[in-house]
Amino acid sequence: MLKTHSCGELRPKDIGQTVTLAGWVHRRRDHGELVFIDLRDSAGLVQVVFNPEVTRKGHELANQMRAEYVVQVTGEVARRPPGTENTKLATGEVEVIAQGTQILGPAKTPPFYINEDVEVEESLRLKYRYLDLRRERLRDNILLRHRVIKFMRDFLDARGFIEIETPILIKSTPEGARDYLVPSRIHSGKFYALPQSPQQLKQLLMVAGFERYFQIARCFRDEDQRADRQPEFTQLDLEMSFVDEEDILNLLEELLSSLVEAVAPHMRVIKPFLRLSYDEAMERYGTDKPDLRFDLHIGDLTDIAAASDFAVFRSAVGEGGKVKGICAPGCATYSRRQLDELTELARTYGAPGLITIALGGDAGRSLEELTLDEVKSVAAKFLTLEQVREMAARLGAGAGDLLLIAAGKPGMVDKVLGELRLEMGHRLQLADPNLLAFAFIVGYPLLEWSEGEGRWEPMHHPFTAPRDEDISLLDTAPERVRARHYDIVCNGCELSSGSIRIHSRQLQEKVFRLLGYGEEEIEERFGHMLEAFEYGAPPHGGIAPGIDRIVMLLAGEENIREVIPFPKTQSAVDLLTNAPSAVSEEQLRELHLKLRDE
Ligand code: AMO
Repeated sequence: MLKTHSCGELRPKDIGQTVTLAGWVHRRRDHGELVFIDLRDSAGLVQVVFNPEVTRKGHELANQMRAEYVVQVTGEVARRPPGTENTKLATGEVEVIAQGTQILGPAKTPPFYINEDVEVEESLRLKYRYLDLRRERLRDNILLRHRVIKFMRDFLDARGFIEIETPILIKSTPEGARDYLVPSRIHSGKFYALPQSPQQLKQLLMVAGFERYFQIARCFRDEDQRADRQPEFTQLDLEMSFVDEEDILNLLEELLSSLVEAVAPHMRVIKPFLRLSYDEAMERYGTDKPDLRFDLHIGDLTDIAAASDFAVFRSAVGEGGKVKGICAPGCATYSRRQLDELTELARTYGAPGLITIALGGDAGRSLEELTLDEVKSVAAKFLTLEQVREMAARLGAGAGDLLLIAAGKPGMVDKVLGELRLEMGHRLQLADPNLLAFAFIVGYPLLEWSEGEGRWEPMHHPFTAPRDEDISLLDTAPERVRARHYDIVCNGCELSSGSIRIHSRQLQEKVFRLLGYGEEEIEERFGHMLEAFEYGAPPHGGIAPGIDRIVMLLAGEENIREVIPFPKTQSAVDLLTNAPSAVSEEQLRELHLKLRDE
């Protein structure tokens, strides 16, 4: 190798040794006769001193070096003079006195500082991703990602799981997003689809008898991008035979909690993992991926509101709607402007408005002592003191708190309050950043009615098994069928979905029909699965935690792009290579494609 040691590994025990190092010039400082260089490699930094009395030629070269030059240095490890040690640096007690040096690769002035943690415009970071990846934040995230994946592999290997690769050029498998398609050159007019997940293939591996499969699987979905979505992302995809829900959830609880202990020991995990039904999650938190690091639950106030004289409440209830609220602790003193901000936020999530009730008086006073004068709200004169007290009690509020109340269609009310809950959690810093509140969400319905499409759609995917006791409802009351589906959420993020699968041809066909597939389409799209189920299919189930999202949570990052080496932008563009890009007429012809004008 061009080096005998790594920069970051040198310690006082190495004093007196002659070493050869190679790396990047992190910083250069001129101190009259001496030139100091912080030399950086993948293991860290060390200070190198160029003294013309030791090496005139080396000193001359050091004068030419600029930030990000790649250089090789040979020299002796020495103790730093007393008073010049750097306690912030692992190598801070020593320095290398250069005896010789070579410039291996000069560098242009980088478009942003590598050696400072300053905000840089993201498009610039993405265009020069290889430079951004040199910076501490991304380098640490990528190292963490490596440790996470290595831990997962070792953990599953030790439990008898086999890692099996499945193809990337496949037939479309429904996961609810648009497919990325690849046109076939050999078969004119035909397309492969990139996997939205290896769902069908892993089920076929169960039919094939592997019993315990996993894969670090790349998935592709053409869907609207969000802070936690990328067009291609990575799942820890796994599947097991002869299991029920508890087996899989127990395995995941052990995997995730021991993962955190191993790679992010500064973070706390609530154990055992919390468990909520889908209905409970929607009712209390307005979402099926609640942030459970803090309470601020949603309370149903419909009955109290219905009995009041407040027209907004009465008409919402009259139209079959709900009135629900949350308590914002200590916010009774919110200004008009702050209240308007919250109302505006509620509007962006579809609410016609927001009713706020400030409970004045000093915190700690009991609700019994509250007087109507102390209640500040547009609704105050239409509510009795008793009604205000009841509402406050239901939301766990007391003097000094602010009630935020939404009225209208149940779905909208839950959504708005779910978002306000997160906003208040954020404003009041209620969520401990070092806490991971994992939770299993269970008891999902199998299907949901799509108003737009006018048909049933699977809540998860069409391979999810209904609960045995609900199978007969498929014919009579599909909306009441519950699924053997579970999600894992953490700190407001959906980490993972999975289910026990259907493994009988008849039941799978029945579900496809219910979803509105015709016989021909069933055969064309899923004939291979249905046939496989006729050759001895074991009961099986699995799950697929999103690895990018797990790393995001562990790294404390808010955007998935920070944990992916080469991510795409919000509009699915790779700014580094400029993909997607136009192709030649010749390539299109070979693929039997013609571009349309519109
Ligand atoms: P699902 O579609 O719920 O389930 O995906 C599982 C997990 O994958 C992650 N994920 C994403 N991460 C980043 N960007 C995206 N665009 C994206 N989409 C999904 C999430 C999500 O929870 N085959 C089933 C799993 C199974 O049933 O075993 C599936 O893919 O963390």
